[in-house]
Amino acid sequence: MDPSSSSTRPPYEPRGLRDAQADFAARFPDFDPDGTFDALRSTEYGRLDDEDQVYLDYTGGGLYADGQLRAHFDLLRRRVLGNPHSNNPTSLAMTELVEGARRSVLEFFDADEHVCIFTPNASGALKLVGESYPFAAGGRFALTADNHNSVNGIREFARRAGAEVTYVPVTAPELRLDRVALGATLAMADPDADNLFAFPAQSNYSGVQHPLAVIDEAHDAGWDVLVDAAAFAPTNRLDLREVPADFVTLSFYKMFGYPTGLGCLIARRDALARLQRPWFAGGTITIASVQGDGHYLHDDEAGFEDGTVDYLNIPGVEIGLRHLQRLGIDRIHERVRCLTAWLLDALGGLRHANGAPVVQLFGPAGTDARGGTITLLMRDPDGRPIDDRRVEELANRVGISLRTGCFCNPGAGEVAHGLTEADMRGWFGRDRPVSFLELRSEMLASMDLLVSAVRVSVGLATNVTDVFRLMCFVQGFVDRTVDDIGRVEFVSDNCRIVRDTA
Ligand SMILES: Cc1ncc(COP(=O)(O)O)c(C=O)c1O
Repeated sequence: MDPSSSSTRPPYEPRGLRDAQADFAARFPDFDPDGTFDALRSTEYGRLDDEDQVYLDYTGGGLYADGQLRAHFDLLRRRVLGNPHSNNPTSLAMTELVEGARRSVLEFFDADEHVCIFTPNASGALKLVGESYPFAAGGRFALTADNHNSVNGIREFARRAGAEVTYVPVTAPELRLDRVALGATLAMADPDADNLFAFPAQSNYSGVQHPLAVIDEAHDAGWDVLVDAAAFAPTNRLDLREVPADFVTLSFYKMFGYPTGLGCLIARRDALARLQRPWFAGGTITIASVQGDGHYLHDDEAGFEDGTVDYLNIPGVEIGLRHLQRLGIDRIHERVRCLTAWLLDALGGLRHANGAPVVQLFGPAGTDARGGTITLLMRDPDGRPIDDRRVEELANRVGISLRTGCFCNPGAGEVAHGLTEADMRGWFGRDRPVSFLELRSEMLASMDLLVSAVRVSVGLATNVTDVFRLMCFVQGFVDRTVDDIGRVEFVSDNCRIVRDTA
């Protein structure tokens, strides 16, 4: 059978890096017209090539530029900076830097009706909303099935307060929102109660970008809207003047790699005023008294920043944002779109000699309304799934960093793998916790179903060589059976050899 006959795409044929680069340049002439990103790769991200690493886990964490470190450490070396909770000169100096970083976050997202609350990460920001939102009987928490577990976890706060929890499904194979179900769910809000709707601007599982127009739709239907922008913000413009979400959450290390340990909640002032903090802590109050048994919370971002913020790292946020601004978020977006388009076509076109596809994609096969996260399962010529952990082991040997498992997004994974409520219910309410590995191996044994997957994600420092080396690696699975893959030490030498052909 002609391998190309079962696909509209040409099969992938790695002839060498130069051919791949020429093919890429012909297809995407505006990829890096002035060579800015190429230069950046060697000056600011040179450690990738010095260490011979193919980094393809940008959805896990972004990479920092050398210049970000230099600028941050220069600042720390030059200045004497104290805890910003005092009024002495070193404290005031630090306060000025923290407030400057706060302003730069709001400017970056064009958020003039919002405040920026620094948190340890996106999960910390999500928990702040979950624990403070006025969930109550009669009110609702609705969320998309495609969500990170740190959003799923908010359902525990909602249920404890008596609010109804509803999931809006996503549908295979593209894993996009079921618009009919969304409309029906949004119509259920009681206008006299507090209703919160949460969705990710970009899925960390499939790369799907759920439409931001849903924010206005949900507002009109009486919902407050929480947008998890953790996977979206690194490579997409988010303009909160255009899409005025009530709550936006993200982690800065995903945007520009450094510093870790910092994220934020960007909250509309009016929505923030309706949150009710379940406790108070140092830094959050104007006064508290032991004998008077009372406290007053600050009514702005300070009321939500428990204790001392990670003050020495916060200037690194402003430095990171300036780095993205210098490069231009739209140019970063376009770069990632081109790399993703090339990879999707190459992966989707790869065939075994019998015509069977090598790669099953979970999510959209094109780049419309999707980001640079690609989740897949490799299959052998008989269609048998290749264990993602084995794929990872082999990728590790050739210096490719990818991600395997379910990516903390069980809802998207369950739909991708065709699992039903009946398949999943029985796993819960047991006397002892079940691990993902146990679930995975039992499902493999009882249903012959592999419920985990491989995820690759590209970012601003990815170049054509990186995606080419991944394709050479994947190409090594062509015409290999599961048993064969279980025995080999290296699936393909190509990902090393390509370097010499350049
Ligand atoms: C979409 C999404 N939301 C939330 C998170 C949680 O981020 P963090 O672990 O930094 O709190 C992640 C992390 O991968 C994510 O991808």
